[in-house]
Amino acid sequence: MHTFDKNYWEKHWDPAAAARSQRLPVNPYLATETAHLSPGAALDAGCGTGAEALWLAERGWQVTGADISTSALAAAAARADAAGMAERTQWVEADLTSWEPERRWELVVTSYAHPETGQLALYQRLADWVAPGGTVLIVAHLHHAAHSHPHPEGATADQEGITGLFSRPGWSVETTYQNTRTLRAGGREVHLHDVIVRARRTS
Ligand SMILES: C[S@@+](CC[C@H](N)C(=O)[O-])C[C@H]1O[C@@H](n2cnc3c(N)ncnc32)[C@H](O)[C@@H]1O
Repeated sequence: MHTFDKNYWEKHWDPAAAARSQRLPVNPYLATETAHLSPGAALDAGCGTGAEALWLAERGWQVTGADISTSALAAAAARADAAGMAERTQWVEADLTSWEPERRWELVVTSYAHPETGQLALYQRLADWVAPGGTVLIVAHLHHAAHSHPHPEGATADQEGITGLFSRPGWSVETTYQNTRTLRAGGREVHLHDVIVRARRTS
């Protein structure tokens, strides 16, 4: 079994995959879960080729996209330039499992990012990067679901595990649910089983 290290993700984001990913729709949860928020500074943690980061930038957010993959970030930056969003976006090569950003964001989003350390350890770190009053939105592959392509257990999460991280003073879980959706990727149908958690930092 491979590990989800930088080498893995650089191979994952070969030029063909980076191009293919740009034809995929933005995940639908950004629209439903962030529409009520006033745009400010946002971080997309594990941004890949930048679809979600760009979506936020186009809606007025000043977005930092962070990823471990140099190739993914290069594709994201080119995409932002082409969309006229270069000034609203910043691309940072960082390993989210060890990065110590010196700032905080009003919105931290992450979708399907699965580092070597597993999901909950990642989400715990992301929580620390949310400014007081800010929001974290987590979209993950659901644990024990029949995914179209197999995901090792460490790359999935369950609702209880994620919400457990935010069931403590200083946080309020505002939305949590599971959803199944189908999209066409690489000429085939892919069934995604998602878990979504949105929480607000109250202090
Ligand atoms: C499955 S892709 C998801 C990309 C994008 N968020 C999306 O929803 O399409 C997972 C992303 O997480 C990034 N990633 C994995 N481990 C990471 C780490 N330790 N630090 C930073 N990014 C990481 C990968 O490079 C990849 O771009």
